[in-house]
Amino acid sequence: MDKNKKAIIFDLDGVIVDTAKFHFLAWQNLAKKLGINFTAEDNEQLKGVSRVKSLQKILEWGNKEISEQEFKQLMHDKNEEYLTYVDQMTTSDILPKVKDTLDYLKVNNYPIALGSASKNAKRILKHVDLLTYFDAIVDGNEVTKAKPNPEVFLKAAELLKAQPKHAIVFEDSLSGIEAANTAQMLSIGIGDENILKEANYVFKDFEDMGLAKFKEILNE
Ligand code: G6P
Ligand code: MG
Repeated sequence: MDKNKKAIIFDLDGVIVDTAKFHFLAWQNLAKKLGINFTAEDNEQLKGVSRVKSLQKILEWGNKEISEQEFKQLMHDKNEEYLTYVDQMTTSDILPKVKDTLDYLKVNNYPIALGSASKNAKRILKHVDLLTYFDAIVDGNEVTKAKPNPEVFLKAAELLKAQPKHAIVFEDSLSGIEAANTAQMLSIGIGDENILKEANYVFKDFEDMGLAKFKEILNE
């Protein structure tokens, strides 16, 4: 393989699929049970944040202290509810032009990895029929240090046998952009440019980026 060929690493939630709405529903129901107010704005702050950290934050916001056992039970219940939504996902849940981008990379033999905090990553990729596109998957089951620590992306690049400087990361969370930048990778933010200002590039979505622009970036 061409040693200088770029390796492409995708975050999952918010980049490939919009699962934030499902996380929101499940966290909101949990918060309601605890008598904690939880808004869509609060949910924004949980993007890219692990399940454990998310629950810790919600409890903090609500000034609530619970036992370790209850914490574990709530984590379990939240995930069970979340999975009922995930299990209804189909290819129609893939965000616009993501499939075209993956097809282009596949046809042109670019190594592709997933770098996500989610422990449900493989299950989601199976539901939307994208699992076979990925040469490597690093998810919440394999990492010990959450984004903005670069561990997840460094592991992904290593599995693709790519040097970090030859890797490109797609991310929708600020902590993910920070992780990519710390790893010395090229960061492409998908979302709001006011939030993702630290990224090397920011596009609203893959449609906004367009294949022509992406080819330019790939050849830099
Ligand atoms: C992604 C999402 C977060 C989620 C985390 C863990 O980073 O953006 O909202 O909390 O993954 O997901 P999981 O599927 O393991 O609960
Ligand atoms: Mg994300």
